[in-house]
Amino acid sequence: MGWALLGAGLLMALYTLLRYGLRRAPPPRARAALRGITAIVTGGSGGIGAATALELARGGARVVLAARSAVRGEATARRIRTETGNAEVRFMQLDLASLRSVRAFASTFLRQEPQLHLLINNAGVSAGGTTEDGFSLTFQVNHLGHFLLTQLLLERLRSCAPSRVVIVASRAHCAGRLRLHALGRPPPGPLSTFQDYCDSKLANVLHARELATRLQDTQVTCYAVHPGFVNTELFRHAPLWLKPLLLPLAWLFFLDAAEGAQTSLHCATQEGLERFSGRYFTDCRLQEPWPAARDDQLARELWDASERLVGLVGSEGSPSPAPAAALQ
Ligand SMILES: NC(=O)c1ccc[n+]([C@@H]2O[C@H](COP(=O)([O-])OP(=O)(O)OC[C@H]3O[C@@H](n4cnc5c(N)ncnc54)[C@H](OP(=O)(O)O)[C@@H]3O)[C@@H](O)[C@H]2O)c1
Repeated sequence: MGWALLGAGLLMALYTLLRYGLRRAPPPRARAALRGITAIVTGGSGGIGAATALELARGGARVVLAARSAVRGEATARRIRTETGNAEVRFMQLDLASLRSVRAFASTFLRQEPQLHLLINNAGVSAGGTTEDGFSLTFQVNHLGHFLLTQLLLERLRSCAPSRVVIVASRAHCAGRLRLHALGRPPPGPLSTFQDYCDSKLANVLHARELATRLQDTQVTCYAVHPGFVNTELFRHAPLWLKPLLLPLAWLFFLDAAEGAQTSLHCATQEGLERFSGRYFTDCRLQEPWPAARDDQLARELWDASERLVGLVGSEGSPSPAPAAALQ
């Protein structure tokens, strides 16, 4: 009996240690007043994106949920309108796995919405497969699609400045290895999907870094974010053998989606962050990313390669078409 009690006590202590060691929820933030602000949240139909959109709507922002599934997107928009009493929440279809869809979204958005102050590049996936554009699904959704989207919306962000771009990356960028000659192709090896995810997240951090350099003196600033380990549907495509391990871990130790949205919201709304444009945040605090994510030359080369892959410059590096032309 005594041993059983001791064992139970030790298990409780271990659980508490792990839960509050691993599960470091960011400190609560004051709600920002966002009336007059228009925001796009990609992947706003579920997980961290829906929690981010909910909080922006609570602050009074006009929020566009840019998501793939109309059923899920409309349902989330309806739920957020009901929960917040903010009627200015709408769904618009965007499939980041299709460059055609990204262009169509940007074109419709620019026609229908006169303002854009916040672009939250949140959608993400970790799955195998190839897109209609011939790129690996994970790399296109997580990086290339968002890269094109940001470029197509940049003029609107500039004209509405001060404005911000928040790029939801991940601590997984630490294992990223960008092979610029094979960018957008799945990495070789048995852990190809996982490696591709890490590569795409490294690309996210470098994207924010180079974007900030190119936007100096414009009052458009940008930030890369690690949201923490969050219990969402991100791991739905994980191999079957991994799920029994992952699910209890996620359930016991990971943040919930509202907690996972806090660092994105911090970077989107906290005053005085402008001098940290291009930097990486986690737990609502500035943090140094891994060395590869601080490599300015790699960031420049990634930018040039991404421009070519999404068709914003010719393969010979000929000048970008004007954004309006790129929408066609
Ligand atoms: N969860 C974590 O522990 C964790 C840790 C570090 C970083 N992150 C990052 O956080 C971000 C949000 O992930 P999450 O955890 O909230 O995952 P999630 O629950 O799976 O949500 C991902 C969102 O992305 C959308 N999406 C997927 N493919 C898309 C596409 N082709 N076009 C447009 N939207 C698409 C999904 O929409 P559908 O409903 O249509 O699938 C969904 O709304 C991701 O960038 C992820 O890499 C998450």
